[in-house]
Amino acid sequence: MVRILIIYHSQTGNTKAMADAVALGAEDIDGVEAVVRRAFEATLEDLLGCRGVVIGSPEYFGYMAGAVKDFFDRTYSDARGRREVFRKPYAVFVSAGNDGSGALNAIERICLGYQFKKILEPVVAKGEIDSEIISECRKLGKTIAAGCEAGIY
Ligand SMILES: Cc1cc2nc3c(=O)[nH]c(=O)nc-3n(C[C@H](O)[C@H](O)[C@H](O)COP(=O)(O)O)c2cc1C
Repeated sequence: MVRILIIYHSQTGNTKAMADAVALGAEDIDGVEAVVRRAFEATLEDLLGCRGVVIGSPEYFGYMAGAVKDFFDRTYSDARGRREVFRKPYAVFVSAGNDGSGALNAIERICLGYQFKKILEPVVAKGEIDSEIISECRKLGKTIAAGCEAGIY
């Protein structure tokens, strides 16, 4: 099975709804398994063992959630430079009240440090999570999964 890892944090459920939609989209592809982890529980082994990774965060105070930063803080030194991580396909989704750019930019900057490969434009939700956002998230999950399964990334 090709594994797609979805790491997220959520306090009030918005980012979780997006994560669940990404997972559903990934599992639309035969031969793909979506593994959804809350950021505080996600480990280096989760990261090493996936073919592609999708990172989701709410924007808090113009930045990513502390839980998502904690995942990066815990895994960066041991992950960076490893062949399992180098050029790993990744994508991002953000849930914000009205902005999202601070969280997005911070996540993308850190992902450059890991030497992940950005393969899709992010989904940034502003305000309510409506059916359009859910379908964008599902499409994002399906696209990264299809590309990883086909070996084109
Ligand atoms: C402590 C806190 C700080 C926030 N800061 C921002 C912010 O800087 N910019 C923004 O657009 N929304 C901000 N919001 C709104 C959240 O990003 C938004 O409600 C998001 O959907 C929450 O996601 P969740 O339901 O997954 O926890 C903040 C919310 C909280 C609770």
